Amino acid sequence: MTRINRRQFIGAGLAATAASFFPAPAQIVRGANERIRLGSISCGGRANELLPGFKSFPEVDIVALCDPDSARVGATQEKYPEVKKTFVDCRKLLDDKEIDAVIVATCDHWHCLAAAWAMQAEKDVYVEKPLAHNIYEGIQVVNAARKYGRVCQVGMQQRSDLMQAEIKKFLHEEKQIGKIINARVNHYMPRNPIGKTEKPLALPETLDKNMWLGPAEDFELYRNTLHYDWHWMWNTGTGEMGNWGVHVLDDCRNNVLLDCVEFPKRLIAGGVRAAYNDDGETPNIHFVYFDSGSIPVVLGVSTLAMKDSKSAGDHPGPGSGYVAYCEGGRLEGQRGRAKAFDADGKLIKEFKGNSGQREHQRNFIDAVLARDPSMLHAEVAIGKATSEWCNMANIAFRCGKPMSAERAAEVAKVADGAESIWGDVLSSAQKTLQTHDISMIDSDVMVSDVMEFDAEKREFVGEGSELANSFIKRKYRNDEFTMPEIDI
Ligand SMILES: NC(=O)c1ccc[n+]([C@@H]2O[C@H](COP(=O)([O-])OP(=O)(O)OC[C@H]3O[C@@H](n4cnc5c(N)ncnc54)[C@H](O)[C@@H]3O)[C@@H](O)[C@H]2O)c1
Repeated sequence: MTRINRRQFIGAGLAATAASFFPAPAQIVRGANERIRLGSISCGGRANELLPGFKSFPEVDIVALCDPDSARVGATQEKYPEVKKTFVDCRKLLDDKEIDAVIVATCDHWHCLAAAWAMQAEKDVYVEKPLAHNIYEGIQVVNAARKYGRVCQVGMQQRSDLMQAEIKKFLHEEKQIGKIINARVNHYMPRNPIGKTEKPLALPETLDKNMWLGPAEDFELYRNTLHYDWHWMWNTGTGEMGNWGVHVLDDCRNNVLLDCVEFPKRLIAGGVRAAYNDDGETPNIHFVYFDSGSIPVVLGVSTLAMKDSKSAGDHPGPGSGYVAYCEGGRLEGQRGRAKAFDADGKLIKEFKGNSGQREHQRNFIDAVLARDPSMLHAEVAIGKATSEWCNMANIAFRCGKPMSAERAAEVAKVADGAESIWGDVLSSAQKTLQTHDISMIDSDVMVSDVMEFDAEKREFVGEGSELANSFIKRKYRNDEFTMPEIDI
């Protein structure tokens, strides 16, 4: 068995190198009347956003729906009465040879296992972001796509907005505002707390708990709502970092870094879940410095509104987007639009795009019809890389230690090449917390040591690496739902 040589996946030109691993497109040329029979693994909120788009394509038939919550299957089937096949167990859907491709729009903890099983069952996959709940699973699912020769698109739809190509040309070919120095990624959008409960959640009678849990551990759930709020528990979700953080970071990795870095070399991250007093676990303030080995990137995520305000923190640039700081100005990008400014702050160019959503789904269908994964705009290796940055940011937060005055001084100094913008990200967190009378120092705010990642070994190295590496792979509930190691 040949193992992928990791060198071939990292360093400059990740996308191009990944493409060299694709099996040559199959010789079969589909006829003009060829149809794609699509099944949906999930009948949740996102699946119901994707289904109308896929249904509108003339080559696609929606033929199967699956969700462990049979009430959700029923509600979705009402919208698609032509769909006769319904399941609560996705393995049964995957056994069906009459299904060519699947949507995986489950909770994060299921993405990779469902996608890998689907590819093993010779189906192509449109899997939602973040690709992976943990680093190990992301690696396996890319291997699955290579091993089984499948088309696998990750739901990072901004990649299908044509505007991104114009931005890359402006920044990297025309170099209209000079060399890029560093970049800041923002997601500052308030979110409400999820509530605090005394008693475990009573699961809906319509739920097959075993299939909903899948790989996740069987903890009592302390929260008010089963669906959606799984985002804010580590057992099933990846927090705001894997929810919105992944989209904005992906734009930055795409347009600023040109996908040249699979794993950052070093990072430091911290944050807190403050002031909510609720059952969630993931941070509502999260700050990260990534030493990419190329352009340094800092990231601020906040869903905590400043007291008596609708703002989740002060920041330059878009509330959800990124700023590329260049020698001769800056570019501010976000979903569907971007603006470039010269060194005097004068607007010199505007870019107009869209969400990329419909184009992204179309791109998947085109690649499936052509049997050519290299056509994909967010091929699984690309989706994996951005997801892994988010996983690393979450690991660093979970390895955090209380922020003392000494540690705060150390943290402020680490950001080689991005000192000033890193200071801004930290100040923004501090200011938001202060409005709630919470100090950054000697409070619940945590911060990691500088964490080093060895991209060859795909593990953290050096001080503190033992704890960090314990988060690279999840604890599986049982063998039935354990993500297999997939060699190629
Ligand atoms: N790309 C985007 O812009 C975008 C937008 C929204 C959501 N998402 C992603 O979509 C995913 C789903 O989010 P959501 O808002 O729909 O959450 P949700 O909680 O509404 O839906 C998730 C659904 O998955 C189902 N599910 C769990 N295990 C399953 C299994 N084994 N088989 C089939 N279904 C299973 C749940 O029962 C639930 O109905 C998340 O990963 C989220 O990050 C992406």
